[in-house]
Amino acid sequence: MDPRLNIIDKRLENIKRLIAVGGGKGGIGKSLTASALALTLSKLGYKVGLLDLDFCSPSAHIILGVKGIYPKEEKGIIPPEIYGIRFMSIIYYAEDNPSPLRGIDISNAIIELLAITQWGELDFLIVDMPPGIGDSILDTIRLMKRVEFLIITTQSKVVLETVKKVLKILRELKVPIIGVIENMRLAKSSFVKEELKEFNVPFLSAIDFDKSLEDSLGDINKLSKTDFVRHIEKLVDKIK
Ligand SMILES: Nc1ncnc2c1ncn2[C@@H]1O[C@H](COP(=O)(O)OP(=O)(O)OP(=O)(O)O)[C@@H](O)[C@H]1O
Ligand SMILES: [Mg+2]
Repeated sequence: MDPRLNIIDKRLENIKRLIAVGGGKGGIGKSLTASALALTLSKLGYKVGLLDLDFCSPSAHIILGVKGIYPKEEKGIIPPEIYGIRFMSIIYYAEDNPSPLRGIDISNAIIELLAITQWGELDFLIVDMPPGIGDSILDTIRLMKRVEFLIITTQSKVVLETVKKVLKILRELKVPIIGVIENMRLAKSSFVKEELKEFNVPFLSAIDFDKSLEDSLGDINKLSKTDFVRHIEKLVDKIK
């Protein structure tokens, strides 16, 4: 029995809701959605944490422009705050160096990060999930017992195949699914809705491909004015 597992339960006990933003496939907007959601909830006055669980290519710090703030050690690690969001990421330990880890080492790093981070009282902890449908999802479910999933997809058939697998895993493990967001929509179509009908999960919204987004990454003022963030602001009531 790993003693850190008990510590994790204690570290998370004062967090009202744990929301993992996943989808299995890479590059579909998980990090952007997680960051925009954390930002929106924080603006609404909620106490929010954001945990970047992507150990291979962490990106929430790039999207939010996190610079010059560092965790504080105090019987554990206190996450630094940016725009009212308590932020924790592997970047504080790996910096910009590549951190190619094997499965078991990633699990250990997740356990370590969850065991040392003192989130304190939070209304929401948003978890930016890495791509993949294996260890990371299973570890998240195992370690964050009350976690709920927000699923991101695109219209791509390739993406949808992976998303369906994620939904099946979550359904089998009886993990609550808040709903699905279709991202990077190029044209109106009911394809995603139809394809996911069998899962009976709420379809929350479709977000169009936003050409101005790339230029706004890392600049919170620009980012807040993008159609993408405005869209998340509109649909946040369906999530919170
Ligand atoms: N609606 C959108 N319109 C335009 N660009 C978008 C949109 N959503 C996401 N992007 C862009 O797509 C890229 C990938 O997004 P993001 O990093 O959030 O994906 P991800 O699913 O977290 O990827 P990974 O699995 O690699 O972590 C980013 O450059 C982001 O700005
Ligand atoms: Mg990501």
